[in-house]
Amino acid sequence: MAVDFKDIQQGYGTASGPVMQELLQQDALPLEPALCEKGNFFPEFKKVPFKRYFDPEFARLEMEHMWKTCWQVVGREEDIPEIGDRKLYEVGELSYIIIRSGSDEFRALQNACMHRGTRLCNGNSSGKSIKCPFHAWEWNVDGSLKNVPSRWDFPGVTDEAYRLPEAKIGRWGGFLFINPDPDAGPLEDALGVLPKHFSPREAEQRYTVVGIRKKMRANWKQAQEAFFEAYHVIETHANILSYNGDTQTRYDIWDDGKSQISRSITPSAIPSGHLGDDASRLQAAQDALKTFALPFPGVELPEIKSAETGRSEVAAWRREMMGKLLGVDFSKCSDSYMLDANQYFMFPNFWPWFGEGLPLTYQFTPYGSNPNECIMEARLTLPVPENGPRPPAAELIELDFDTPCSSAPALGIMASVFDQDFSNLPLVQIGLRSCRDDNISVTLGRYQECRIQAFHDMLDRKLGLK
Ligand code: FES
Ligand SMILES: [Fe+2]
Repeated sequence: MAVDFKDIQQGYGTASGPVMQELLQQDALPLEPALCEKGNFFPEFKKVPFKRYFDPEFARLEMEHMWKTCWQVVGREEDIPEIGDRKLYEVGELSYIIIRSGSDEFRALQNACMHRGTRLCNGNSSGKSIKCPFHAWEWNVDGSLKNVPSRWDFPGVTDEAYRLPEAKIGRWGGFLFINPDPDAGPLEDALGVLPKHFSPREAEQRYTVVGIRKKMRANWKQAQEAFFEAYHVIETHANILSYNGDTQTRYDIWDDGKSQISRSITPSAIPSGHLGDDASRLQAAQDALKTFALPFPGVELPEIKSAETGRSEVAAWRREMMGKLLGVDFSKCSDSYMLDANQYFMFPNFWPWFGEGLPLTYQFTPYGSNPNECIMEARLTLPVPENGPRPPAAELIELDFDTPCSSAPALGIMASVFDQDFSNLPLVQIGLRSCRDDNISVTLGRYQECRIQAFHDMLDRKLGLK
């Protein structure tokens, strides 16, 4: 049963830093339709047992009732641009070859040889066929059988019966999704409000500039929950409080029983509510301006004229500077679109961000069958220039458990923020496992951590626990 969220305090604003909803109403330009949308769901208060993050039995339930039956993102079409290009997608012990089988056709093929089971694909690769390294059984890129050495010895092997089995594949916004369940409903059931909220410029008309695949010693849920809320900014990213509206963040959830989408919008260029009524809004605009300029050394910075208009001034500068640099017309984009961290989530693990404030995409999956480890993919994307051509996608940088993001210079200023976030995760995982009381549970903030509560509410429904 959903709760009436009118009874819940929705954020904390100050004289110098109003809550996100007020900032949206004060925007210098008309808001994009998505920014006018409000959630339709608020979860009941939820206690989440520590055990859920490390118990192998719970991980098994997730595998059986969620990963094997739900739509899940596996990457972007641009990752495999040519026919025959392929990448690996693995969740738990399930493994698929995600392959471009035609100029506008993709497949998710079983990654195990139909002769004696050898794994066929070990990572990004390309070629006209898929050949087993053991006895050279071979398939075409569409999964049809191409060749079996000594075929005379396999009288039962027919072309029809020996296609590589495939999972359902779905496409939205330049992203590829699979569903291992042959009886699954359409991808649209899981996308919920995403297609309504995202225009092509926020999804398919983008390309990956830089990205990582980071192994982490944390349960996949625990890792992604570090990104559901801005509550952690006060301690984990204390260096950005002067220009980041953490307590002013707006949270929305849409849940129709089949899909769950949630969103947080954290304003930039205003001071955190933790800094009180007297915090400087002028300083907030100046600090935001400097941070936004970091990836563009040498770019000219305007003088911020006033505290009142500072946020809009930073947005105006960003519209013009990025417009010129990227060959994209941002002149009609709202201040919020250009500045704020607007982060969407689709159950169970897909995180497409919205707008140009911080255009990231995340994906979290368990690593093998160990509930204490996961892999996070994170990409920074940019809009494709309006007069083309589409720039090639950057290959994701592989980062092992103990390799910090700061070792990848291509990540620029994102590296230090990610390293701040990632530093907590193994500590949480160790702490969760260290308690004597089996019934202990996490204590979640009613509003700022509502997306975590909603996520577990949906998870309970999927696993048949509710
Ligand atoms: S196991 Fe693949 S060809 Fe024999
Ligand atoms: Fe963070």
